[in-house]
Order: sequence, then C-alpha cells, then structure tokens
Amino acid sequence: MDTYCVFGHPIEHSKSPWIHARFAQLTHQSLVYHKTLAPLDGFASSLQAFQSQGGKGCNVTLPFKSQAAALATRCSPRVSLALACNTLKFDGQDIYGDNTDGLGLVTDLVRNAGCQLQGKSVLLIGAGGAAAGVLGPLLCEKPQQLWVTNRTVDKARQVVQRHAALAMAEGVDCLALSLQDEKLFSQSFDVVINASSSSLHQGQIPVPDSVLKQGGMACDLMYGPAAQGFMQWAEAHGAQARDGLGMLVEQAAESFELWRGVRPPTELVLAELRALLA
Ligand code: ATR
Repeated sequence: MDTYCVFGHPIEHSKSPWIHARFAQLTHQSLVYHKTLAPLDGFASSLQAFQSQGGKGCNVTLPFKSQAAALATRCSPRVSLALACNTLKFDGQDIYGDNTDGLGLVTDLVRNAGCQLQGKSVLLIGAGGAAAGVLGPLLCEKPQQLWVTNRTVDKARQVVQRHAALAMAEGVDCLALSLQDEKLFSQSFDVVINASSSSLHQGQIPVPDSVLKQGGMACDLMYGPAAQGFMQWAEAHGAQARDGLGMLVEQAAESFELWRGVRPPTELVLAELRALLA
C-alpha cells in the first residue's frame, strides 16, 4: 500500500495521521499514513530511509521545515519565498517540495470563515517559520495592506523583503514594523493573524488592543489550549476569534491533493476533528 508519514520532533501530538486516514476513507484511496519521530540531528537520514523504503511522500513539521526546503530537489515558488516546506512528494530520486500552510490558512479564512481578504487591512504577528509560510498566499489574496510586526524587527524586515516583488505585483502595501512602532498604535485591522509563538510562553499578547476591530477577524495559527489566550483576548475586544484547526485540515487537504490528485472533503473532517478534540 502507498505509504506517507509526517516527520517532526516532537510528533506525538500530531493529528495528521487521523486527518489523512479520514481523507483516504472518504475518497476511497488506499494508503497508510503514520507519524515518525526523527532525531533532532537526523532528519535527512530519516527522510532518505523512508524514501528508499518506498515512501510516496510526507509532511514535515517543526523543527524540520527549513531542512526539508533545502533537501527538496525541486520546489514551488511558495517554498522559495518561505524558505520552509511542509510537504514532500517523491518521484524516483526526485523530491518535490511545497508549502501548503498558507493555502490552508487562506482557504480556511475565505471559504470556511467567510472572511474575504481582498482590499482588507491585515496584520500578521510574527516573522518565524509559521509567518513566513503564510505570507505569500496571503499577499496573493490582494489585501490592500499587509503589515508584519515582530519582536525582532529585523526578521520582519527580512521576510517582507523576500516577498517585496510579490507584494508589488499584487499591489499590496506590505511593511515590516517593530512591536513598538507608532503605526501599530494608531490603526485597527480587518484581520489580525497571530503567527508568533508568544502564547506558548507566558501567554502575553504582543500587540496593543487597538489593533482589533469590532467584528473583525482575529486568527491564531495554533489550536487547542495554545490558542486560547489569543482567542479570549480577541473576543473580549469584539473581534471574531478563530483558531488554527481549520488551517490544519485545509493544509492537509492541499498535501493530499498533491499526492493523490483528489480533493478530499474538508468541512466534514474539520467538524469531526473539532468534536473529537472538544
Ligand atoms: P515558528 O516556526 O512556530 O514560527 P519560530 O520560527 O521560532 O517558530 O518563530 C516564533 C515567532 O514567535 C517569532 O516571530 C518570535 O519572535 P522573534 O523573531 O523576536 O523571536 C515570536 N515570539 C516568540 N515568543 C514571543 C514573545 N514572548 N513575544 C513576542 N513574540 C514572540
């Protein structure tokens, strides 16, 4: 049977095997998908072993996404911009790399949450791997403005700089800001996306309350307890709060389609996963 897996460290928490097993059932595809704990210093050899045993493709999660981008022999423009890869597809010795995280976020916001991004003002918090993975697909939705703010402003500048040509082509005002920048204190945003891991440490919100708009969207890329602090803050200030569970299911659907050529139904799987985790 065709075999897939997700590599990470840690990996025990991963919901990907459950999601892909459900996609396979619903689309009548015959495959197995398991989770693999790769040693912190042994991702490349784990990947090579999986490929030589006949693995067809894999997902890659923390902390191996940038190594995966470097190991791909071909990659999508999204990977070149993000410098991070969450999906690999093997074809003989060829390893094709893609990053489906941003596509998953956009599908979840636009289709599942009914939150159009075109012409909107968007604030992206964070400039690490998670933020870099979603910036390109967010720009492709043509928001009017997409500002990236980060504790270390140089990292925000670097990720914005890499995406400058795309932002210009899409006609988006894309800026890098420090968390202290006065521009951040004088504007509210239609959509605020938390791609920082601040909630994992002390649970502090790194931006002023005034960035939120009444009825606007506020989305944390995390889910479960890690997203609760951000979502409670957003709701307390009148915004619609959303966690990253929809993005998780939608990015998995993009990977599944890349491997199998079939689009799985995501609405049902997201509802089932939410019920399972409740
Ligand atoms: P990931 O791959 O999940 O994005 P990462 O690359 O380590 O992980 O990035 C974590 C992000 O969360 C970074 O933007 C980080 O800010 P720095 O670039 O300044 O390190 C941000 N972050 C982590 N802890 C934070 C905190 N307590 N307050 C604000 N931002 C924080």
